[in-house]
Amino acid sequence: MTHVLEVDGLEVDYDNGVRALDGATLTVSAGETVGIVGESGSGKSTLGSAVGGLLPPPATIADGAVRVDGADVHRLRPTELRELRRDRLGFVFQEPIGSLDPTMRVGRQVALVLRGRGDVLAHLERVRLTDPARVARSYPHQLSGGMAQRVAIAMAMAREPGILVADEPTAALDAQIRDDVLDVIFSLAAETGTTILWLSHDLPAVGRRCSRVAVMYGGRVVESGAAADVLRAPQHPYTAALVRAVPGAVEEGERLASIPGQPPVLTGPAKGCAFAPRCPEAVGSCGTSRPPLVRLRDRDVLCHRAPVGAGR
Ligand SMILES: Nc1ncnc2c1ncn2[C@@H]1O[C@H](COP(=O)(O)OP(=O)(O)O)[C@@H](O)[C@H]1O
Ligand SMILES: [Mg+2]
Repeated sequence: MTHVLEVDGLEVDYDNGVRALDGATLTVSAGETVGIVGESGSGKSTLGSAVGGLLPPPATIADGAVRVDGADVHRLRPTELRELRRDRLGFVFQEPIGSLDPTMRVGRQVALVLRGRGDVLAHLERVRLTDPARVARSYPHQLSGGMAQRVAIAMAMAREPGILVADEPTAALDAQIRDDVLDVIFSLAAETGTTILWLSHDLPAVGRRCSRVAVMYGGRVVESGAAADVLRAPQHPYTAALVRAVPGAVEEGERLASIPGQPPVLTGPAKGCAFAPRCPEAVGSCGTSRPPLVRLRDRDVLCHRAPVGAGR
């Protein structure tokens, strides 16, 4: 299988001293749908931005690399990086308005992305907008959040990217349309063979839609593998805690398990496992030595206590 994306020991620091990624490693094959989950602050957005060489200026890469189709993103010349973004990558963010130009009619913006390769209305139809002609004539502020996000998706998918990075694309939308918008993203990507990286808080939804899941904590991918397996038999205590924290996972009336304590804000490399202070299974060495990558068939786990046979 071809690897469309390799994130290799990536370390990213912001200029306020925060270490957002602390050796994140993830390999993705063509056509996979990968859900990247973790609490707020775990580094999901930083990782997503790094895939397109889109880290904001206060960020510096201390170590590691991101390769898209084998090309080291942060070593490309500016023109090569622009081409890579235009031809191979698509991005959808939480706020659709940020992807749209407020001063330009929607149809014209879609046409600019298409550069003559395809019909604007057909692309608006593909994201299941009910009145594509009216949307094309509109300015972004005349659209609802859901419509604007569909337009942003149409633009991100217009050139059939190899990889779509969708960073919490439904977080700002009304609950009742979230599934529709995700349906649009996942069905379009399936049609075009686009690999999805879906950055999400919603572990059960990731379990339903994604082939793989990568769990982030403290700027590292602490567990990754086939979504169904990871949810059924987590190997990392943090994944296990996330699975237990899901409302559907407990019987009605049973107390909902939440994860005591707060996620860390790192200001340099973690000395040990970043989850150790909250981990019910931690032993002394967990806080003082960084867990090595344990590879168990189709599963990668960063835990001193792995493997545990049938999961935690
Ligand atoms: N522009 C920024 N400047 C300073 N710190 C940032 C910036 N963006 C993110 N961070 C910090 O980096 C860490 C990881 O953030 P982020 O990648 O946004 O995680 P997530 O998307 O999982 O919530 C957090 O501690 C966050 O506060
Ligand atoms: Mg984020």
